Amino acid sequence: MRGMLSPSLMCADVLNLQSEIEALDNLGVDYIHLDFMDGKFVPNITLDASLIRAVKSVLKNMKRDIHIMAYEPQQYFDRMDIGEGDIVAVHLEACENVRGVLSIIRKRGANPFLAISPDTKAKVLNDYLDDIDGVLVMTVYPGFAGQPIVEGSFDKITEVRQIIDNSGKDIILEVDGHVSWDLCHKMRECGADLFVAGSSSVYSKGMKIDEAVNKMMELIK
Ligand code: DX5
Ligand code: ZN
Repeated sequence: MRGMLSPSLMCADVLNLQSEIEALDNLGVDYIHLDFMDGKFVPNITLDASLIRAVKSVLKNMKRDIHIMAYEPQQYFDRMDIGEGDIVAVHLEACENVRGVLSIIRKRGANPFLAISPDTKAKVLNDYLDDIDGVLVMTVYPGFAGQPIVEGSFDKITEVRQIIDNSGKDIILEVDGHVSWDLCHKMRECGADLFVAGSSSVYSKGMKIDEAVNKMMELIK
């Protein structure tokens, strides 16, 4: 599977979101990464559910890659208009019944991804391989952009890759957090398929968006 790019909208110019989205859409980017936080599962609030819903109406090519860092995420699905083509990543650590939440996502025609924080062991995935279309491996602690990568992230990506390959299932491995110019190629070598690009790459200062996207696509292909 070729490497795919999902720029993180919370790292874009928040005063010009529509033009930021349209610029990416015109560059053939695969996904737009939309972080939702409840201020409880993580001590931060970013894009709200109505904005995440509104993004759907301006997309021509990209699909939504929605990362919900909130307890009981299913309560937000209607407000976000979750449906066909959406990736929806929910945190194992934030759901009472994560299998039930994953099946709601699937019933809505979207793609359920299981997000695991740095302190959650990769082997937990073995219980959910039939319920997911992807795994979102957090390589920083969820909640904030601009953090350094967590120690051991490359081993984690490699371990998740092995679990997926041993399962023989078509499961996408997404990485999120400090996906930087100098580390993204190594993440690719460890087995990542989908790259959330934020402040340490596509939205790093001083680069035009088209140059940054083309550079990233080259590094992760
Ligand atoms: C953090 C979010 C990430 C974040 C990535 O909780 O899930 O998507 O925006 O930002 P960088 O690339 O700066 O780590
Ligand atoms: Zn994210």
